[in-house]
Amino acid sequence: MLGDLHRLGSHPSPFQAFTALSKIYGDIFSLKLGASSCVVVNTFPLIKEVLITRGTHFGGRPDFLRFHALFGGDRNNSLALCDWSSLQKTRRSIARLYCSPRFASSNYGNLNKVGVTEMDFLMIQLESQIGTDGDVNIKPLLLAACGNMFSQYMCSTRFNYTDPSFQILVRRFDQIFWEINQGYVVDFLPWLQPLYKKHLNKLSSWAHEIRQFILERIIEEHRLTLDPDSPPRDFTDALLMHLEQDSTMNWEHIMFELEDFLGGHSAIGNLAMLVLAAVVHHPEVGIKIQEEVDKVTRSERDINLFDKPDMPYTEAVILETLRTTSSPIVPHVATQTTKIADYTIDKGTVVFLNNYELNTGENYWNEPDLFKPERFLSNGRVIKPEHFIPFSTGKRTCIGQRLVKGFCFIMVGRLLQKYNVSAKDISEIKTYPACVALPPDTYNLRFTPRNI
Ligand code: HEM
Repeated sequence: MLGDLHRLGSHPSPFQAFTALSKIYGDIFSLKLGASSCVVVNTFPLIKEVLITRGTHFGGRPDFLRFHALFGGDRNNSLALCDWSSLQKTRRSIARLYCSPRFASSNYGNLNKVGVTEMDFLMIQLESQIGTDGDVNIKPLLLAACGNMFSQYMCSTRFNYTDPSFQILVRRFDQIFWEINQGYVVDFLPWLQPLYKKHLNKLSSWAHEIRQFILERIIEEHRLTLDPDSPPRDFTDALLMHLEQDSTMNWEHIMFELEDFLGGHSAIGNLAMLVLAAVVHHPEVGIKIQEEVDKVTRSERDINLFDKPDMPYTEAVILETLRTTSSPIVPHVATQTTKIADYTIDKGTVVFLNNYELNTGENYWNEPDLFKPERFLSNGRVIKPEHFIPFSTGKRTCIGQRLVKGFCFIMVGRLLQKYNVSAKDISEIKTYPACVALPPDTYNLRFTPRNI
């Protein structure tokens, strides 16, 4: 009844268990988790085969009850958790233009403007919250700043940091982000559902609160001012216009797509927290970022996104943080009976892609346990090995990666431009293996103004 579930419990993260099991059973092995047949794929060539060569055979997602609870009773409402379909193709293509802006496009310019302006607001807020010893509960502030960057960029509206409904919105998104990054046995043992009823109801109610806010505070105003004869003002307009033009899209699809993308801000806020944690653990990293910022700005102005090409070290620090935290690739599911290498994979098999091994394996990196941003630098330029795929690859690759790199760069660069970051008690900085999420309530950091 439990299958091999007990084999995953002996490590802090199931991905560490996958790596340990691959040493015994090889690069690809199967597991029975509750009633689900699963396959774990552990090397880059095999992962590429699943995601690219046979990507069309592996476009499904697992049918976890939690996923349904978060998306109005149907996980197919979610972009990340739905099975592949023509609707998904349409939703991805609407999003790509706005959520994946190309360098030098007008949307990229807008991304920069939004990020820089929001950092001005954040710096004022931060200054007002720094205690006498420099200690700040920084996570809610970073998340609120990211939340505003997203709502300004996608919906042309931002909220006051002290607005109680906005504070709750940001908190609910963060709680869901933490939640979605956890594995629960009920995912594989649906008969445990009665025991998790309260938990699943809580998830639904968080999601409901978010939806109400988006509807009342964002969409309604947009609908009233939409001009169908003018080009879309932003992503929200583009979605609303699409609703008029495409009979396969309905109101729910629009709502959930906007919610999904706005929710992406939590990932960036959590990642920025992890970058700052790395800086605290490795003060020399913070110093090098500051040297780079001072050089490009000549200490005369604030940094912006167009400084990124001249700040490869800062970008490398973000990449090294992505490598060392190693956020899992969402499991894929075989939508037809197919093969991986010479093994037959039955339709419905859940496929875990062990990118933790790609990010930390001795076969892929020198001294993988060390935090070394320099590994991503060559002759003053950023280089990424082919096997480094923190955003996955193939047809379901992450759509938000340009927003991640852009907004995270602006946040980290600007914070370190102005402050030295440390911690009152470094032992309180707890991060989690193979997880980009931190618990909603987590470590404080200490911000000391730089003397420049
Ligand atoms: C730390 C930041 C982030 C990381 C490490 C990350 C990573 C990933 C990964 C590994 C996947 C799974 C791809 C697959 O299954 O093959 C994914 C999917 C996705 N991501 Fe991200 N992501 C991040 C932030 C974001 C943000 C900010 C957004 C939105 C603005 C976003 C939107 C999506 C969407 C919509 C999908 C689903 C795509 C699909 O299934 O078709 N992500 N992401």
